[in-house]
Amino acid sequence: MKVSDYFNIRYSDGFFEFINQTKLPFEEKITKTDDYEVIAQAIERLEIRGAPAIGIAAAFGLLLSQKKSISESAFLLAYDRLKNTRPTAVNLFIGLEYMKEYFLSLLSSIKEKPLKNFNHSLYISLELKALEFMQNDILSCKRIAENGIDIFAKKSNVLTHCNTGKLATGGDGTAFAVIKLAHEKNLINHVYADETRPLLQGSRLTAYELNKAGIPFSIITDSTAGFLMQQGKIDLVITGADRIAANGDVANKIGTYSIAVLAHFHKIPFYIAAPQTTFDKNIISLHSIPIELRKPEEISAFGNIQVTDPGFNYYNPAFDTIPANLITKIITD
Ligand code: MRU
Repeated sequence: MKVSDYFNIRYSDGFFEFINQTKLPFEEKITKTDDYEVIAQAIERLEIRGAPAIGIAAAFGLLLSQKKSISESAFLLAYDRLKNTRPTAVNLFIGLEYMKEYFLSLLSSIKEKPLKNFNHSLYISLELKALEFMQNDILSCKRIAENGIDIFAKKSNVLTHCNTGKLATGGDGTAFAVIKLAHEKNLINHVYADETRPLLQGSRLTAYELNKAGIPFSIITDSTAGFLMQQGKIDLVITGADRIAANGDVANKIGTYSIAVLAHFHKIPFYIAAPQTTFDKNIISLHSIPIELRKPEEISAFGNIQVTDPGFNYYNPAFDTIPANLITKIITD
């Protein structure tokens, strides 16, 4: 399948649209909604995923909770629902706070000076705020790419994990945006995309995006990364992040820690690329980062195909943590 362009999330005329990432790469199914509950469920099911993208989607969810009429209680209900969708990516909470702070300040300013056409004016103000949050992320992606280009001393073979492209953000991505810009500057020889067990964000989504961008790549199983490093076939590793603690420790998709240890052993630079909305100054170190545990079915089956006994025990953390001393540099906006 080759379509000239694709999008992840967008908002216009009171509706939020997103591509259902669980259907990729075979089906580009777009959902259009003005219901925050649909957005909340899409985040839980990973139809919308990637740290910056879920923050943006949550911001629009709050906006849509006010579409019929402006109501503080409806806003707070939506806030609580969206806040409880996924625990690890701090961008979700940053997006929610960005909107909440603004909404409450609008309400208190109106108590002092009532507005004509109250519902419409407030909705428009909130809409601009959500669009601003998305626009900021688009700019962040661009700056990350520009700030990251220096890591390429020569035409390189790159390893990446999970998905960090347009599908995971409002713009061109984080780690993916760096790779894309490097490709445009003829600095990419080959990209190795970890399949990223168990939900295959690498083989389904990163491969889809690399293909769209015309970047040469191979999909590998997660356990192949070490062998490639041993053969001298990886020049650098770059991944995204879901939360960065005050001391520089990082949480990212499960499997990232193993790659960081392997890179350290093989003396290969290991980079993280993330916007400021992924930094959490309130978290001191990796030990305090909340890690999402997901359902056993994600391991016991491939899609609808059962591959092992669902009655066995499973342990399925969606993220792991990488201590700062394994990270060569964090590239940010
Ligand atoms: O569970 P996911 O697919 O939302 O996890 C996403 C990741 O771990 C990404 O690496 C991360 O969000 C980077 S964001 C560009």
